[in-house]
Parts: sequence; C-alpha cells; structure tokens
Amino acid sequence: PKLIVETRDGQERVLEGEIGLSVMEVIREGGIDEVLALCGGNCSCATCHVHVDPAFVGLLKPMSEDENDLLDSTSDRDETSRLSCQIQFGPALDGMRVRIAAED
Ligand code: FES
Repeated sequence: PKLIVETRDGQERVLEGEIGLSVMEVIREGGIDEVLALCGGNCSCATCHVHVDPAFVGLLKPMSEDENDLLDSTSDRDETSRLSCQIQFGPALDGMRVRIAAED
C-alpha cells in the first residue's frame, strides 16, 4: 500500500509502506527525518504529529486518552491531527495522505 507524505517544505513523497508498520515507521523508513519520533513510538513525545487526509480520519482507530493529551500539548493541533506512531498502516489505508505537522 502507498502512503503519500507531505513534508514541511511542501514536497510530496509517495512511499510504499510495509504492512504492520506504524505510519511513523513507514515515514522514517522512507528516509524522511522530519518525524523525529524521539520516544520510539511509545506515545509519549508528540514529535510524530501528522495531519491526516480528512477522507481517512474516520477509518482510523479512535485515539487513546494519552494520544489526545499529547496532541493538546502541540501548537499545530486540529481535527485531523494524529500521532503517526499510533496509526497501524495496512491495505485499508492505501493512498492515504499525511502532512507532517509544524515543529514545536
Ligand atoms: Fe513519540 Fe509517536 S513517536 S509519540
């Protein structure tokens, strides 16, 4: 499945995502280092914040309270915000577009 990533400078990259990885891992394995993922995917840093294509937001599993609290600590949160380490990638998300959120 393909993941489309918009980086902070507005460039678009199309990545082939391995099934079972998180969106954060797909982005980093694709060589995009803007997603720092300082906590390594443990839902405790918010440096993997992305904005998800509104067409896909409803397909994602609801966020945990921890994810919600962490997103509240960011400056760029909106209704499309998610922590990319908390999104499991797979065929259902083929063609999803994510935009890397502003750095805090
Ligand atoms: Fe730290 Fe996602 S990598 S919260």
